[in-house]
Amino acid sequence: MTEITKIDGVDFHPDWSRMPDHARHVFLCTGPRCTQRGALQLWKTLRRRLLEHEHIEVPGGVLLTRTHCQFPCNLGPVLTVYPERCWYGVRNKADVLRLVDVHLVGGDVVQDLLIKDLP
Ligand code: FES
Repeated sequence: MTEITKIDGVDFHPDWSRMPDHARHVFLCTGPRCTQRGALQLWKTLRRRLLEHEHIEVPGGVLLTRTHCQFPCNLGPVLTVYPERCWYGVRNKADVLRLVDVHLVGGDVVQDLLIKDLP
């Protein structure tokens, strides 16, 4: 039997044929304005903290995705969490650590980090 190594000329792996078993999907904006506000460093903090909790890309854990602009640029760096549909503004490392511990691991929304529209 021939082992499949490519589909339509693209590399194949059996794990890439199914949706991950995550509980939450987190989108961190790394668009131009959030990047100017430090989003790439916050991405590293986010990923590292989830790894410390063994809570990333595991069943019941978090699937992380970097995005382009999510639009409320003035309030960023912007991080959204689904299925709760929470929109957060994470300004620094401490915000990210708290968001991971309280929401992504603990399951509680971090009210004071939620984005509120500017008047
Ligand atoms: S660049 Fe991040 S919301 Fe626009």
